[in-house]
Amino acid sequence: MRELVVNLSDHSYKIIIENGALDNVNTYIKTIYNNDKVFIITDDKVKDLYLDKVIKSLEKDYIVDYVVIPNGEASKTLEKYAYICEELLKKDIRRNNLIVALGGGVIGDISGFVASSLFRGLPYVGIPTSLLAQMDSSIGGKTGIDFYGRKNILGAFKQPKMVIIDPNTINTLDEREFNNGMGELIKHGAIGNKELLDSLYSHPKITEDVIYESLTVKKKVVEIDEFDLKERMTLNFGHTFGHAIELKYGYKHGEAVAIGMLMAIKMGIDLGVTDKSCYKPILDILKIYNLPVVEYDYKDYLKDVFYDKKNIAGTISFIFLTKLGECVIYKITEKEIKEKLL
Ligand SMILES: NC(=O)c1ccc[n+]([C@@H]2O[C@H](COP(=O)([O-])OP(=O)(O)OC[C@H]3O[C@@H](n4cnc5c(N)ncnc54)[C@H](O)[C@@H]3O)[C@@H](O)[C@H]2O)c1
Ligand SMILES: [Zn+2]
Repeated sequence: MRELVVNLSDHSYKIIIENGALDNVNTYIKTIYNNDKVFIITDDKVKDLYLDKVIKSLEKDYIVDYVVIPNGEASKTLEKYAYICEELLKKDIRRNNLIVALGGGVIGDISGFVASSLFRGLPYVGIPTSLLAQMDSSIGGKTGIDFYGRKNILGAFKQPKMVIIDPNTINTLDEREFNNGMGELIKHGAIGNKELLDSLYSHPKITEDVIYESLTVKKKVVEIDEFDLKERMTLNFGHTFGHAIELKYGYKHGEAVAIGMLMAIKMGIDLGVTDKSCYKPILDILKIYNLPVVEYDYKDYLKDVFYDKKNIAGTISFIFLTKLGECVIYKITEKEIKEKLL
C-alpha cells in the first residue's frame, strides 16, 4: 500500500494506492466522513464490473445509493450533468452527504463538477478505475463537462476529500484504454521522474509504486500551481503537437501525446534545448507499451500550433525536455521559429 498527501491552500487530502482497495473503501472513507448516506456516481461499464464490490464494502457503514450514466466522453454533457443532479435530488441527497465518483476520467470530471455545484458544494471522494484517471485526472482538482463544442469548458476547481486507487482495476481495461493512460504516464516520467522511466524499461508492469511515482510528478506542480497559472503548464509536454494530430488522425488522447512527445523532443533538439540522448529511450519505452510511434515532422505542424490558444501576444510557450526527467517552459516568437527552424 502507498499513500500520498496532496497539500493545497485550504486543505490536504490523501491518495491511497492499494491493490484490492475496492474491498476496503468503507475503512478509508470512515476516516474522513461520518454521516449516514453515500451516493455513488458511475458509468454502465464500470457498474457491471465494480459497483457491487464497492456497495458491499460501503454498506457495512453507510446507506448507499447510486446513479449510472452511459460510459464514454459523450456523457460529459450538460444534459447528463442535469440528469445526475435530478436523480440525486429524487433520492433525497442532502448537503452534508458524500458523493463517490467511481469510474474513469469522465465520471471523475462530471461527478466532481456536480459535487462543486449542487448545494454550492458537497464533499466527494474519487475512486478512479482507468489507468488515465488513476495516474492523472484523480489529482489536481479540475472538474467539468464539454459544452458548445468545446472540451471541459464548463467546470470548477474542486478538490476531493480523498482518492482511493485500486491498481487491480487496470486489468479489465481494454488495450487502447490502457495505452491511453500509458501515454500520459510515460510523459510524467519524461518531465519529472527519471527513475520512473527506468522502472518502465526494466519491469513493464503497472504496480502500486508506478502509480505512486507518476502521481508524485503531478502532485509537485499542482501544489505550487493549484489554479493552473504557470508551472502546471509543464504537464502539457507532448500536448501542443499531440492536439494537432489527435483529431486529424483519430488517435486517442494518450496516443497523440506519445507521438507529440517525440515531435517536441525533435524540436527541442533542433533548438539546442533538449539533449540529443532523450529521443531513443522515450521511443523505446513507447514501443514497449505498444504506443503508436509514427514520426510526423513537427515543422509541418508549427503553423497550426502557432495559432492555437497558447499564442499569447505573438509568443508561444513550448514544454521541452532538457534531459530525461527534467523539462523547461520555453517561450518562443513566430520570428524566432522562422529564423531558427524553418
Ligand atoms: N480533470 C483532469 O485533470 C483530467 C486530466 C486528464 C483527463 N481528464 C478527462 O478524463 C477523460 C478521459 O478519462 P478516461 O480515459 O478514464 O475516460 P473514460 O472515463 O471514458 O473511461 C474510458 C473507458 O474505460 C471504461 N473503464 C473505466 N474503468 C475501467 C476498468 N477498470 N475496466 C474496464 N473499463 C473501464 C469506461 O467505462 C470508458 O468506457 C476525458 O474527458 C478528459 O478530459 C481530466
Ligand atoms: Zn493529456
